[in-house]
Amino acid sequence: MVYPDFDSKSAALYQRARKVLPDGNSRTTIAIKPYPIYLAKASGAEVIDVDSNHYIDFNNNYTSLLHGHAFEPVQSAVKSQLKKGTACSFTTELEIELAELLCNRVNSFQQIRFCNSGSEAVMNMLKAARAFTGKPKIAKIEGLYHGSYDFAEVSLKNRPQDRNGSTPISTAYSFGTPDSVLHEVIALPFNEIETTETLIKKHAESLACVMIDLMPQTMSMVSPSNEYLQTLVKLSKEYGILLAFDEVISFRLGYSGGQGMFGIEPDITSLGKIIGGGFPVGAIAGRRDVMSVFEPEEGQSARLPHGGTFNGNPVTMIAGKTAMHAMTEDKFEQLNDASQSLKDRVSKIFNDLGVQGQVTGTGSLFALRFHKRPMHKFADIASTDVEIKFMDHFRQYLISNGIWMGTAMAGCLSTATSPAHIDAFCRVLKDGIIEFKNDLPNQ
Ligand SMILES: Cc1ncc(COP(=O)(O)O)c(C=O)c1O
Repeated sequence: MVYPDFDSKSAALYQRARKVLPDGNSRTTIAIKPYPIYLAKASGAEVIDVDSNHYIDFNNNYTSLLHGHAFEPVQSAVKSQLKKGTACSFTTELEIELAELLCNRVNSFQQIRFCNSGSEAVMNMLKAARAFTGKPKIAKIEGLYHGSYDFAEVSLKNRPQDRNGSTPISTAYSFGTPDSVLHEVIALPFNEIETTETLIKKHAESLACVMIDLMPQTMSMVSPSNEYLQTLVKLSKEYGILLAFDEVISFRLGYSGGQGMFGIEPDITSLGKIIGGGFPVGAIAGRRDVMSVFEPEEGQSARLPHGGTFNGNPVTMIAGKTAMHAMTEDKFEQLNDASQSLKDRVSKIFNDLGVQGQVTGTGSLFALRFHKRPMHKFADIASTDVEIKFMDHFRQYLISNGIWMGTAMAGCLSTATSPAHIDAFCRVLKDGIIEFKNDLPNQ
């Protein structure tokens, strides 16, 4: 196959879709140009599109599928639940079971509350921090993606030059964002300790929380340094600011999430993706006293009322419980080992071919970059326009050769990824680097 192919069924479906859906879809993050690829079916690590093209999936619905597609135990569990009802204005024992499973795995999770997406989880985490502390502002890292709550979107599209001196500017992501939102969000520079310390101290009186992601995709899967994280831990304790981890993606790093891997216990965490076993999900988890904002007090409503027609719905709960139950400590270890072997082989390909390139990421997450800059601060990590253009072009080559990755060359493995899938990935990557050797940036 060759992508793009304007005679394909996908191309035709896109033209049809555009009549009734803006840009033909409901999800900015999958809208590739010149047209998105339409799925026919998926199983394990493999996907087939409506034109019968086959792909090995290294995206796993943006990291949300730990076991790949159509994982049999989840299918059976969901089928059994379908007969019993899919949504009702009652709660179910399944919700308790998934909550117990997660709280038993992670020290900082004393209580948990479910919702339907990572964006909702982040929104409610930030609202919970405000409700708990009585303070209005949040601090987040410039350039980091946290879903579509407008406060969480502030400074997302910043470029390294969007600074006042060393201070990142709070910018809006979508048109129409009120200026008042920008005033309530302090953008911190990733891994830049001195400025971060100054900003947190300056706004401490009005800061409800400082939010960070331990494996940010928009930072090329480069983690904050331990020293940086320890600074956030220390300052948040000192100034009564909640430490908020967005683990919507990084929870897949290990049995106790990214926080288990880094050995840090935040006050509150947002979750999504893997804990729904392939169904829409989000959750807010944390210390009991913080989580008590969701609990009505004697004769009064909760400090943070939180409705949601499909919160804790039994289909998501049973799917999440089944997928997470199957993901034992051993399975996490095997998955992470398989990912390490892919990364080692990719590094060897770059070295053997004498090409400026590197593979980043930890656990089952990885990203490819066509340069050898040390990546620590935003200015080193941010891809240049030339690099972005090349990566878009290279992604089309990967698609044409049956490898499916996310935008910005980010990928992940699932338990369904076999050594043969990794072989195919390395073969296609190597052939591509040879084919595009003259177009590679930074050589
Ligand atoms: C770190 C992070 N937070 C929040 C979200 C939003 O999650 P959702 O797409 O489920 O709303 C995402 C989505 O990719 C994410 O990567």
